[in-house]
Amino acid sequence: MRKPIIAGNWKMNKTAAEARTLIQMLKNKIDTDKVEVVVCPTFTSIGAVIEEIEGTKIGVGAQNMHFENSGAFTGEISADMLVEAGVKYVIIGHSERRQYFNETDETVNKKLVKAIEKKLVPIVCVGESLEQREAGQEKTIVTNQVKAAFKDVSGSDAPKVVVAYEPIWAIGTGKTASSEQAEEVCGWIRNTIEEMYDNKVSQAVRIQYGGSVNANNVNELMGMENIDGALVGGASLKEDFASLVNYEA
Ligand code: 13P
Repeated sequence: MRKPIIAGNWKMNKTAAEARTLIQMLKNKIDTDKVEVVVCPTFTSIGAVIEEIEGTKIGVGAQNMHFENSGAFTGEISADMLVEAGVKYVIIGHSERRQYFNETDETVNKKLVKAIEKKLVPIVCVGESLEQREAGQEKTIVTNQVKAAFKDVSGSDAPKVVVAYEPIWAIGTGKTASSEQAEEVCGWIRNTIEEMYDNKVSQAVRIQYGGSVNANNVNELMGMENIDGALVGGASLKEDFASLVNYEA
């Protein structure tokens, strides 16, 4: 059985002091028995959040990292730096990074390989734009992104990866994909992983849906066979996140 995993992507929100207040408010309300819970603050807030979650089962993730170990990469951060800070997860290839910061399938793949090497749990994001969906290209786009991301990842490492399907048109728009639409694409993702590896690996990989997930729509999404979790933006910045995590399937 795949353990559900719900992650909050705080994006470029909350100073360290604000992040501390947010996690203090959330931590006692979140039930971590059935669901693996992760929060992904900005780099400068990671330390404060890690202090606050001590003694809880909440994990901390970063929103990005570089694929090199160190060097002249101004403004970047390495896997070792994250690990030393106490980070356990890392979001890779979020559509906002693909869109605004030239993240490509190739850099996503390099980061995925590095994250695994450094024992970080990668949450690798895939998803089509509105234009691509309207042109009926979503299956090709998403399966190609998955194939590129998992290139050179062995069958023993692949189950450690979490895939997040985030259709770009559903991010921050309040326009969630219907649970059927989300399930359909998450099913294609699992089939692609099965084609690349085998059934056992594909059944072990956890697939999240992301895009306007909130406390009201989480139950239905989580009830879908191929959806094992959620990657949450806006709703992870408020008390709502606790009710969302404590959904009743
Ligand atoms: P929203 O939940 O705000 O739509 O953001 C989704 C997202 O991009 C999470 O990574």
